[in-house]
Amino acid sequence: MCGIIGYVGHRPSVPLLIESLRRLEYRGYDSAGLAFCLNNKLQVIKSEGKLSNLENKLNQSEFFLATSGIGHTRWATHGLPIEKNAHPHLSIDGRFALVHNGIIENYGELKEKLEKKGITFSSETDTEVLVQLIAHYVRKGDSILQAISKSLKEIEGSYAFALIECSQPDKMWVGRHSSPLILGLGQGENFVASDIPAFLPYTKEVIFLENEEIAEITTTSYQVYDLDLTPLNKKVTTIKWDIQAAQKGGFKHFMLKEIFDQPQVIRDCLTGRINKSKKSVILPELENFPIPHKIHIIACGTSFHAGLWGKYLLEELAQIPVEVDIASEFRYRKVPLSPQDLVMVISQSGETADTLAALRLAKEKKLKVLGLCNVVGSSIARESDITLYTQAGPEISVASTKAMLSQMLTLLLLTLFWGNKKQLLTSTFLEKAITVLSNLPEILEEQLPVLKNSAEELAQKYAWARSFFYLGRGLGYPLALEGALKLKEISYIHAEGYAAGEMKHGPIALIDPDFPTFALALEDELLSKVVSNLKEVQARGGKIIALTTPEVKVEATDLWTVPFLEAPFNSFLALPALQLFAYEMAVYLGKDVDQPRNLAKSVTVE
Ligand code: M6R
Repeated sequence: MCGIIGYVGHRPSVPLLIESLRRLEYRGYDSAGLAFCLNNKLQVIKSEGKLSNLENKLNQSEFFLATSGIGHTRWATHGLPIEKNAHPHLSIDGRFALVHNGIIENYGELKEKLEKKGITFSSETDTEVLVQLIAHYVRKGDSILQAISKSLKEIEGSYAFALIECSQPDKMWVGRHSSPLILGLGQGENFVASDIPAFLPYTKEVIFLENEEIAEITTTSYQVYDLDLTPLNKKVTTIKWDIQAAQKGGFKHFMLKEIFDQPQVIRDCLTGRINKSKKSVILPELENFPIPHKIHIIACGTSFHAGLWGKYLLEELAQIPVEVDIASEFRYRKVPLSPQDLVMVISQSGETADTLAALRLAKEKKLKVLGLCNVVGSSIARESDITLYTQAGPEISVASTKAMLSQMLTLLLLTLFWGNKKQLLTSTFLEKAITVLSNLPEILEEQLPVLKNSAEELAQKYAWARSFFYLGRGLGYPLALEGALKLKEISYIHAEGYAAGEMKHGPIALIDPDFPTFALALEDELLSKVVSNLKEVQARGGKIIALTTPEVKVEATDLWTVPFLEAPFNSFLALPALQLFAYEMAVYLGKDVDQPRNLAKSVTVE
């Protein structure tokens, strides 16, 4: 995900900015850049790829005279990962340089407005609009702070930014909304960054900016304002983490951090894709794309489970027949494909060899391929005819968590988009869906700590188990498969996911008091059937953890209740619960959670 660093002080800023960006490398990026003032002129140096490419361009000795500047690592979300789209971006008069994280949703409109005033743009990014807008207001006579305040009031979307001006090398201006930004306070120097590790070797005294706060920072002072420029008093916090802990956002493992990232993932994935007032789903990439008659979803591992979950929705709500295949099977199965079929490949990394091979096979057969991908510019993203980015941000832990949630959300959006186009959804249903989706980040944010506590208690109680069944029906079935995969890959406990109705066809023979079952018993039309299946398990002495809601009458050894949400939205609570149970189990058993044995994050071989 993009990283921001800004510095005003007394040290040579160029090496400092590079080192700070290096401490953000773990977040992933595809291009980088710096801007700093020299002799009343802004120098902007950018490059594609790794920071070493940028460093190679920074070897002029006079650059080491600069003592302030801003830096950025970009993880492309909109616009290709190429040099002209890398940050910082300059205003047309060369007076201002700006770095930005987030997405400006109404940038098209604002760009048009500025173009009419003769301002030309040199990148494909939404970010450039912000620097041009601020510079425009300054040229019209506003102070820099007034221009920032005015511009931010016009912007829709999310932002964290840092801005510098060519004639004031000891100052910078920053602000945030829905993307994190933190001030670091030093002696005769001050910092701003999207993540604390960027400046942690220099200071542990920080101020967390809140939404719609802006600040003017000098080498020796700072003042935070609200959007109306009313000065605010902010609390200074002392950070107690070391760099490694800070990279994990203070969490013990990347996996846990990524599970807790999920509310923000929902926000990012929905940004620009739902219209809250019109209660509609907007997927511009698919606007001119025909609604498919049939879809073949192809993926591996966790992404396969997301695909299976999506099948249930696409078939029910958009009435599109869907087949879901494991990529390593699909590529060798002689599947009869019709030219009108759509192939949808799902991959977090975009580099999984089997999925990529299946994509190439589909293209050879002249089928259209839609890629659901997390990593921008990855092979699958580049080779698909159309790519929908799932916007989960870099996933570092080998066990995939937030990527699956983002894939499910994208599949849900696709279902609503096509279902609506086919006039299969009532406006009441759509309205409700958009409202629940908009509230989902807050609901999950509130629930995650509660889920974690329950997961910890249950993990300690069941850590003796050597095998586990995971059972569910309907949307609960792919979730059961995923719960079992998570448990086995990080805790090395044998786990099998089953469609609950399939138990009596063989697997139930394994049930005894030492073979517990994790059941997904959330409210949907198949709940009563799950409840009956669980009775069969109980009758054979099997212990049961049932993930359910307070109103449900289900018998189990342990009831794990979560607040009621209608299907399919309840899956977005169930998935983190499953992830946390596996996580707590692995932690309790002392396993290497982020780097489980025998596994790689990206499987680029067959
Ligand atoms: O990058 P991809 O989504 O294509 O990866 C697919 C699988 O390799 C991946 O989901 C794997 O199963 C994870 N380790 C699951 O946690």
